[in-house]
Amino acid sequence: MARRILALETSCDETSAAVVEDGRKVLANVISSQIARHQAFGGVVPEIAARAHVEAVVPVVETALREAGVTLRDIDAVAVTHGPGLVGSLMIGVMFAKALAFARDLPLLAVHHIAGHIYANQLVRPLAFPLVALVVSGGHTELVAMPAHGEFVPLGGTRDDAVGEAYDKVGRLLGLPYPAGPHVDRLAQAGVPRYAFPSVRLRRRDGDVREEDDTRYALSFSGLKTHVRQFLDRARERGEAVAREDVAASFQQAVVSALVEVAMEAVRETQAVQLVLAGGVAANGALRRALRAASEAAGIEFVMPPIEYCTDNAAMIGAYADVLYTRGVTADASLGAVADFPLRAASLSVQPPSAVFADSR
Ligand code: KG4
Ligand code: ZN
Repeated sequence: MARRILALETSCDETSAAVVEDGRKVLANVISSQIARHQAFGGVVPEIAARAHVEAVVPVVETALREAGVTLRDIDAVAVTHGPGLVGSLMIGVMFAKALAFARDLPLLAVHHIAGHIYANQLVRPLAFPLVALVVSGGHTELVAMPAHGEFVPLGGTRDDAVGEAYDKVGRLLGLPYPAGPHVDRLAQAGVPRYAFPSVRLRRRDGDVREEDDTRYALSFSGLKTHVRQFLDRARERGEAVAREDVAASFQQAVVSALVEVAMEAVRETQAVQLVLAGGVAANGALRRALRAASEAAGIEFVMPPIEYCTDNAAMIGAYADVLYTRGVTADASLGAVADFPLRAASLSVQPPSAVFADSR
């Protein structure tokens, strides 16, 4: 019998519900985006997001069940993102999933949002280990090594802004609407990277960081963003015309080259056989092309999900929840929303199977 998981995702500004079969087959993936409500503010407003999730969650779940052609009787477990994310937003999904699981006496599966992003790839191709995952979105920039299913070893990531956030902020400086990532991408394609913008790799300088602070895979985007602002300000003061396309292309070059560098260094260090990409910034054509070429040169497999599984969605949550389900790792009524917690803590080896569920299977 196929396992069918009803999954929910409400960590940021998308209300999503999906029905996923055996962790691989998406029967439905419904996403209600709130972008329009936040556009006027140039970013996600947490209070507006939470309220919108309350309005959307029931219709979105109903639509997902209907589109999947199933009823709650056909569902084997309920999965939900419990963090990281906006706590007021996460709470709506967690409360709903808990209520449903206990009302229907179904196992409850708690998914780390980044684990979900990585497992979006499992909807396309079986994951092969060891692998390296690059998760790039509006909220996250993480490089993760995985020696096996459900084992996450974070290698590094941003120390300040996320990649998508940097795109959005630089886009705003260039007068582009929110979310600016796709606009900057399009502009960059028409430009020439003629300006040498600073690298986004955080390198150790003497006396800068503590000895034990591992900066090999560390990134920092705030310096680049400041550089772009000062660059534009100076040009304006001097009355010099700068081509926005060239600024966008130079920014994109700085970002993409550093991401490819750290990803490929991680591949070499962990002897990975697969590189997987996830998160909304995976929509960036330059990043995809560069990673694909570098993977080919390194003789490893490169996988990325279609865009609807790259941005926040519940199908990816269902994909990882299947791993939890088959290992008997369930949550109980005490499950809460957590604004931030390390991905490493979500590893199966850190989370022993829950006795009750393991016995009853
Ligand atoms: O994963 P996602 O939906 O965000 C989070 O919920 O975190 O990704 C959205 C982010 C936004 O910052 C958006 O500007 C960026 O991804 N983005 C892009 C592109 N398309 C979306 N950034 C660069 N190039 C793109 N083509
Ligand atoms: Zn996300």
